[in-house]
Amino acid sequence: MSPPKILVFAGSIRTGSFNARLAALAAKELALAGADVTRISLEDYPLPIYDGDDEAKSGVPANARKLREMMAAHRGVFIASPEYNASVTPLLKNTIDWISRARERGEPPLAVFKGRAFAVGGASDSPYGALRSLMALRQVLELGCGALVLPEQITVFHASEAFDDMDNLKDECAAASLKRVVVRLTEAAGEIL
Ligand SMILES: Cc1cc2nc3c(=O)[nH]c(=O)nc-3n(C[C@H](O)[C@H](O)[C@H](O)COP(=O)(O)O)c2cc1C
Repeated sequence: MSPPKILVFAGSIRTGSFNARLAALAAKELALAGADVTRISLEDYPLPIYDGDDEAKSGVPANARKLREMMAAHRGVFIASPEYNASVTPLLKNTIDWISRARERGEPPLAVFKGRAFAVGGASDSPYGALRSLMALRQVLELGCGALVLPEQITVFHASEAFDDMDNLKDECAAASLKRVVVRLTEAAGEIL
């Protein structure tokens, strides 16, 4: 049986982003758990802020269609979500909104969010480690898009101190949490195959 394909990205394109580091570490752990991992940066898929008039005039942008295709080609998705004002970043929400508008001819709305498993994690310098962002992201993915989001998640608190020189998590509990998320996502994506 071929290894489950899992897509990984972060909701930040900031230089030195903690969540990009978390996404990179999750990708490494997913590969160790036996997944076939694709890690992308949203920097490579710039999108305008969603505007219904633009969509009516010009359709869904090519980058949103590419991201939809990328998601469709994977059975698992890991998103590292930063926290802005107790919610997800505009970059991440806008990306999900555009993907939710991109669909193949004849495909029901939001079909690309079904038939695959999502897992979420977040890193922030606060003591809560982007926890509120993950709650907001669950609302968007589960209630908004009808996605299956696994209950296991990883929160990295005091993120500026959390990673060692090799970009591994210093805290054993956090490292164990990440491994649990990764193993569960790999299993779930494999079951969907
Ligand atoms: C507009 C804005 C709002 C923020 N709000 C929160 C917040 O509610 N909770 C939090 O923990 N950090 C908050 N932060 C700090 C971010 O979590 C921090 O900048 C983090 O490094 C962003 O993730 P990144 O490192 O992946 O870019 C906020 C930052 C910005 C720019």
